[in-house]
Amino acid sequence: QEAALQGRFQERVDAEEKIEPRDWMPDGYRRTLVRQISQHAHSEIVGMLPEGNWITRAPTLRRKVALLAKVQDEGGHGLYLYSAAETLGVSRDELIGQLLSGKAKYSSIFNYPTPTWADIGAIGWLVDGAAIMNQVPLCRCSYGPYARAMVRICREESFHQRQGYELMLALAQGTAEQKRMAQDALNRWWWPSLMMFGPSDEQSAHSSQNMAWKIKRFSNDELRQRFVDATVPQAEFLGLTIPDPELRLNAETGHYEFGAIDWTEFNEILKGNGPCNRERIEARRKAWDDGAWVREAAVAHAAKRRQRALK
Ligand code: ACO
Repeated sequence: QEAALQGRFQERVDAEEKIEPRDWMPDGYRRTLVRQISQHAHSEIVGMLPEGNWITRAPTLRRKVALLAKVQDEGGHGLYLYSAAETLGVSRDELIGQLLSGKAKYSSIFNYPTPTWADIGAIGWLVDGAAIMNQVPLCRCSYGPYARAMVRICREESFHQRQGYELMLALAQGTAEQKRMAQDALNRWWWPSLMMFGPSDEQSAHSSQNMAWKIKRFSNDELRQRFVDATVPQAEFLGLTIPDPELRLNAETGHYEFGAIDWTEFNEILKGNGPCNRERIEARRKAWDDGAWVREAAVAHAAKRRQRALK
């Protein structure tokens, strides 16, 4: 009977039907979605930290308003995604416990520091640019709640990417010092942005099954290549140099070839040894502990309302 259910499930996926929370699904499909959606939610929440660092120091009111809105959007994305994960039968407390204990991952990219204002531009341009490349196909993911959440998230990510690029443009067209700051941020964020797409296809443990289940639509390497192809001309327009001496356009394929990624750096970050791993988890743990009274008050309030409704 299990085999028949599996077969029927795969037929539905192949026919591009959306799988909904109450539908039968293989345990592995559920587990993979919980892993990926919660990792994604954690990334949004931890991702608020490097940029939040600059809210009080944004150089103009206009920049501050945009940055505030962007960081707030990220908080919203995280909550939206936790809700999507909860439809699979896990609780938010459990998911947050996994983040704080180090059992659950979040994106490697958020373990780098943001020492200058140009980092805010580079994050918007490169990190959100990479996120869009990876996330637009997720709007067609086979799991309905995740796919629907991604539609709104991608619209907002697209605004984030533009604000980052516009910020980089202002710096690149500014004083020599501002341009140097923009180049320095590009130098530091370029390779980590390429790593965001995950290990190479040969090393990617989950890709083939995820593609068969239509959770993923493109492989890590395919998306990384698309990102490079889209971003190199943008760097040229800014008058900045991508920090890769091996980067060149292959006239036959129409794609950019690029140098080798330092996977040792990526693996060290995944093990918790990146420049900011400890600081990020510490900040999240403090937020969780400091927020305990709010959660307790919300539960007490809900209980009171229930009591009142019964009277
Ligand atoms: N940072 C941290 N961990 C990563 C990263 C990364 N950039 N890329 C891959 N990994 C982890 C995977 O989670 C997996 O670990 P696990 O088995 O312990 O969970 C392992 O490396 C092997 O990778 P893959 O087999 O390629 O894993 P998967 O098929 O899940 O692909 C990917 C990874 C592309 C990140 C996928 O999970 C995905 O598309 N997630 C949704 C998007 C997302 O999470 N974006 C977060 C950053 S964007 C933002 O928030 C602005």
